[in-house]
Amino acid sequence: MLLKQTLYKVEKELENIKICNKISFAEVPIMIDKEVQEDDDLQLTSKGCERTVSKQSLLTHEDIAMLTTNKNKLKKDRIEIEVMKNNLNSQMRQIHEEGMKKVFSVFSNTFSKLLLNYKKEVEHRKRLHDILVRLKGNIRVFCRIRPIVAGEEYEKNLINPDYFDPDQINVTSDNGSNKSFGLDKVFDEQATQSNIYEEISPVVTSCIDGKNVCIFAYGHTGSGKTFTMDGPDKNPGIVRRAITELFQSLKDQSETIESTISVSMIEVYNEKINDLLSPSANTLTLRLSELGRQQIRGLSSTEVVNVEQVEQIINMGRKNRIVSSTAANISSSRSHSITMVNVRIYNKISQITTIGKLNLIDLAGSERVSKSQVVGQQLKEAQCINKSLSELGNVVLALRTKATHVPFRNCLLTRLLEESLQGDSKTLMIVQITKNRKYLSEAVSSLTFADKISKVPVKQSPTRPKLLLPSHDGADNKKYKKSLSDITTDSDNSCMTDQS
Ligand SMILES: Nc1ncnc2c1ncn2[C@@H]1O[C@H](COP(=O)(O)OP(=O)(O)OP(=O)(O)O)[C@@H](O)[C@H]1O
Ligand SMILES: [Mg+2]
Repeated sequence: MLLKQTLYKVEKELENIKICNKISFAEVPIMIDKEVQEDDDLQLTSKGCERTVSKQSLLTHEDIAMLTTNKNKLKKDRIEIEVMKNNLNSQMRQIHEEGMKKVFSVFSNTFSKLLLNYKKEVEHRKRLHDILVRLKGNIRVFCRIRPIVAGEEYEKNLINPDYFDPDQINVTSDNGSNKSFGLDKVFDEQATQSNIYEEISPVVTSCIDGKNVCIFAYGHTGSGKTFTMDGPDKNPGIVRRAITELFQSLKDQSETIESTISVSMIEVYNEKINDLLSPSANTLTLRLSELGRQQIRGLSSTEVVNVEQVEQIINMGRKNRIVSSTAANISSSRSHSITMVNVRIYNKISQITTIGKLNLIDLAGSERVSKSQVVGQQLKEAQCINKSLSELGNVVLALRTKATHVPFRNCLLTRLLEESLQGDSKTLMIVQITKNRKYLSEAVSSLTFADKISKVPVKQSPTRPKLLLPSHDGADNKKYKKSLSDITTDSDNSCMTDQS
């Protein structure tokens, strides 16, 4: 009986083992798969493997060994596939990069060649341009296009610099026709204060050699003249840059020269001269010296020793200048201002003293009174401004043509500048224009004027203009006035002469 019971028990246990084995064998592939799938980490894989093996304690050793071998093979294959995939990716990247490199090198070679040719052309052009400028003499005309300023209502006009010709500016009219204007140089809206100064620096420093220099900012109201000459404190214009450079140059040469610099500031307002550094003084008058030179009687002049001192003086003069808010410019200059810098140099080696004068002139803006419809005081201001600008244009044109007679005496501004403009002096006019369609006709007028000056044929042997005694529009002046007005008053150039 006991034996029977024992046999029954053994039979049952064998039955159980059979059932267990069946379940285990069916589960193995799934479990291995699962383990392999989950097995991204080697450690985890081995732990998982151990787990599986321990769970399958009922498997034979051969089964477990085979499963482990398979699993390891799978793992190895997987790693190999991963490596192949990475290799393939990097090869494809390499092929792509090499292809791109080839294309890029072809392009960059062509581009470098073109750039080199372009640079050569530009250098060649520059040399020719310099020769031309030297031939043209001491009067030069530049144009600066002011950018559209924040808050300005505008519709863009079609004035564009010619990017292949730095001396040309093109205007396309509403009907599509084109007109080109020639100048000595055009600065587009991107030009900075320092770009402008770099170009004129040699003219400025020539006053150290005893030359008289006049730099004018010219153009319609709101076109950026005061910005170019004065500029904001953080972005100074020509006046402060010129003075800084003068001091620096003099310091550099201090072993061989002794120098004295003095500064005066005046404004010409309604044909009267005001001393901007002594505003309480009466209006100043011009008188002719014994040597036949124009002198401003009673003009104050301050000797300066450093840039900071000059800045203080200039700020004071600037505050005293007549400025009003107009429809075109909230801070419109209603007078012509002239900052006069006298540079006296004593050369210790040659023992020669020279005196150079630098006149930096911020002109009042021309304005079409028929368009602005100003009346009363403003009408008088505008008429005076326009008349003096017209006369200044005549003088500059006569100087550029190296005429034997220059009509200096026709207005106060030109009488004042007579000495500084004639002889071997250097004159630079910066004609300001804007891209605002509202001022298209004014811009075209200014450009027409600039174009006429820059196209004046060159005379090979300059004759020094005659220094005239005061004349009240004598016969010579009348004759000249007519020939010059023929040039400056055609139908589309009324900017300089619009005094209606
Ligand atoms: N190059 C420039 N970059 C930025 N702003 C400029 C530039 N030129 C002029 N402006 C701005 O345009 C406005 C008019 O300029 P500005 O007062 O210099 O004109 P203007 O020709 O002197 O006018 P007006 O004849 O009425 O005195 C100012 O607000 C000035 O700051
Ligand atoms: Mg101004």
